[in-house]
Amino acid sequence: MENKIDAHDNILELIGNTPLVKLNRVADSLTGNFYAKVEAFNPGHSSKDRIANYIIEEAERQGILKEGSTIIETTSGNTGFSIAMVSIIKGYDCILAVSSKSSPDKIDMLRSMGAKVYVCPAHVAPEDPRSYYQVAKRLHEETSDSIYINQYFNKLNTEAHYKTTGPEIWKQTNGQITHLVACSGTGGTISGTAQFLKEQNPNVKVIGVDAYGSVIKKYHETRKIDTNEIYPYRIEGLGKNLIPSSTNFDVIDSFVKVTDEESAHTAREISRTEGMFVGYTSGAVLQAVKQLNEAGEFTKYSNVVVIFPDHGSRYMSKVYSDQWMTDQGFLNNKTEEAVQEIQFIK
Ligand SMILES: Cc1ncc(COP(=O)(O)O)c(C=O)c1O
Repeated sequence: MENKIDAHDNILELIGNTPLVKLNRVADSLTGNFYAKVEAFNPGHSSKDRIANYIIEEAERQGILKEGSTIIETTSGNTGFSIAMVSIIKGYDCILAVSSKSSPDKIDMLRSMGAKVYVCPAHVAPEDPRSYYQVAKRLHEETSDSIYINQYFNKLNTEAHYKTTGPEIWKQTNGQITHLVACSGTGGTISGTAQFLKEQNPNVKVIGVDAYGSVIKKYHETRKIDTNEIYPYRIEGLGKNLIPSSTNFDVIDSFVKVTDEESAHTAREISRTEGMFVGYTSGAVLQAVKQLNEAGEFTKYSNVVVIFPDHGSRYMSKVYSDQWMTDQGFLNNKTEEAVQEIQFIK
């Protein structure tokens, strides 16, 4: 008998090939069949593992990265975690400029993965020198042998999903997918996946999820940036106050906007009903599905794939904190379903 040890060479080999899981109770009242691509199964617990690994390996192929080089990025947290993880295995330094909107858990997690973190004010214009874009740009200029991933303006972000997420969903649904519903932050996930799926079947309908307070939906409809659309909102990783070139708007059919409050409750509902502990934007995507269902978008033959981008453990001090929910006014007007009371034994 061959004495072979069945092990992966390192953690990066586990990126991608995430499972597609049928949604059951949470979809009971909806028309159609619903499946979630659960990206928390990536080793860094989010879809951003795919782009971090792909972009860094592409830079290596092009000879841009050398041993001891520094990788710099702006991030709402997930991309940073993934870049830090890839940097550890490949021996690079990692510097991350993050928004002050990111949860403290996310920031501590990045530091635990060896990254140097700069926290920048969330509600300043992208051209402001304090914005995380400008801080990352400056650090890139000041650090020799560094690369700036620049996920919002990097076509390789979109290409990573074109090459991995799209083919996986096509194969997992045996080509029977009718709708893709996904959040749009950089737009890499939705547009890369959509491009692949539409090349297989141009009738696959692709619907993006945007936040109130973001310019993306209106830009898709008018091709103009309406600054009146911009105001603060709480969901991290979804929507934008600028137009990312990583988004290919031509392969997206329409956008739906969702509120912070309903998305938060829907994330909690998914955890309680499906046993899937998902992040805030997973709540947003299912909230969008509920609104689309209300609007009569689906039939009983629809096979709808939603992308759940990350894991709920990243939101313990936000969506999964009753105190945070109360502070936002999200629990005041609504009796929250079946969250159990804590029982104190004296
Ligand atoms: C939690 C979360 N959900 C969704 C997204 C959106 O993915 P994409 O940037 O590929 O549009 C991101 C990315 O920033 C994210 O961090």
